[in-house]
Amino acid sequence: MGNSLQQIQASIADELQAFEKHFRDAMRSPVPLLDRITYYIVRRKGKQVRPMFVFLSAKLCGEIGEATYTAASLVELLHTASLVHDDVVDDALERRGFFSINALWKNKIAVLVGDYLFSQGFLVSLKHKQFHLLEILSDAVKDMVEGELLQIEKARRLDIDEEIYYEIIRQKTASLISSACSAGAASTTRDEIIINRMRLFGEKIGIAFQIRDDLFDFGSDDIGKPLGIDIKEKKMTLPLIYALNRSDKPTRRRIINLIKRHNENPEKVREVIDFVRNSGGLEYAKTAMLRFRDEAFSLLHEFPHSEVRQALEDLVIFVTERKK
Ligand code: IPE
Ligand code: IPE
Ligand code: MG
Ligand code: MG
Repeated sequence: MGNSLQQIQASIADELQAFEKHFRDAMRSPVPLLDRITYYIVRRKGKQVRPMFVFLSAKLCGEIGEATYTAASLVELLHTASLVHDDVVDDALERRGFFSINALWKNKIAVLVGDYLFSQGFLVSLKHKQFHLLEILSDAVKDMVEGELLQIEKARRLDIDEEIYYEIIRQKTASLISSACSAGAASTTRDEIIINRMRLFGEKIGIAFQIRDDLFDFGSDDIGKPLGIDIKEKKMTLPLIYALNRSDKPTRRRIINLIKRHNENPEKVREVIDFVRNSGGLEYAKTAMLRFRDEAFSLLHEFPHSEVRQALEDLVIFVTERKK
C-alpha cells in the first residue's frame, strides 16, 4: 500500500529541486565556522517530509508560487534548528546516521548554530513580507518549546498519562507539521476554512508521526539516531504508559524505579524495553497511530479526488510506515 518516498517526490520534483537552492542560500554565512557547519547540515539532509507537506498542501489548494517556496524554506529551517537544539537537550550524539552537531562541535556551538537557523528562518519570511506565514510558524515554534518543557517537567516526576503524552507530542512535533500544511495552503489560497482543514490534517499527521518515532525507540533497527534514548532520558511515551497502566502495582513500582534510578544502565533499560514489548505496548501505540492516520484521511477526503490528493495520501502512509 502506498508509494515510496521517491515516487511521491517525483510528483513535485521541480519544486523540490528549486527548494534545495532556496534552503541552501538561506543558510549561508560569511562566518567561516558557521558556513562549514551549515554545509555539513545540508550535506546530511533529512527526509524533508515537511517541505513536501508544504508543496503538496499548496498544490492541493491552488497554484504554487514564491510564497510556497518561502514557506517550505522557513519550515525546514525551523525544523533543522529544532533538531540541532534537541540533540543538545537530549544529549544525543547521533543524527541522520552520523554525528550530531553537539557531538562534533560541542554544546556551545550547537546552541548558537540552532539560534542562527531560527533567525534565518524568520528573516526569510520577513524578506518576502510573508507576515501570515511568519505568524503561523512563530506560533508553531512557541508550541514546540512549550511541549519540550512540559516533557522535561514530566520526565522529572514520571507522572504522565495518555492525555499529557498527547499534549506533549501535539506541541513538540505536530505543531510544526500542522504549520507546514496550513502554511502551504495559505501560500495558495485565502479560504480560511480550507487553511484550517489543512492545519487540522497536519496536526493528525504530526501526532501519528511522533507515535511512529516513539515506537522506534523500542526496536533494534538502525534508524540513524540513538535507540533506547527515551527511557534513558526518562521520557514516558505511549507504549510505556500503556504497559504501566495495565500492570499490577509491584511491577509498576519496579519499572518506575528502574527508569528513575537505573536509566543510565543499558541492561536495566533493556529490561524496561522488554517489559513494554511483552505487555503489548507496541501494538497498542500502533493502533492509536493508525486512528490518527484515519482521521487525517477523512479530512483529506473532503477534497475531491486528484493526483495531488493521492500524493498527500501516499506521504501520510509513508510517515506511518517509515523505517527511519
Ligand atoms: C525528527 O524528524 C524529529 C521528530 C519530530 C521526531 P524527522 O524524522 O522528520 O527528521 P529528519 O529531518 O528526516 O532527519
Ligand atoms: C523531536 O523530539 C524533536 C522536536 C520536536 C524538537 P525527539 O527528541 O523525540 O526526537 P528525536 O528522536 O530526537 O528525533
Ligand atoms: Mg527531544
Ligand atoms: Mg531527541
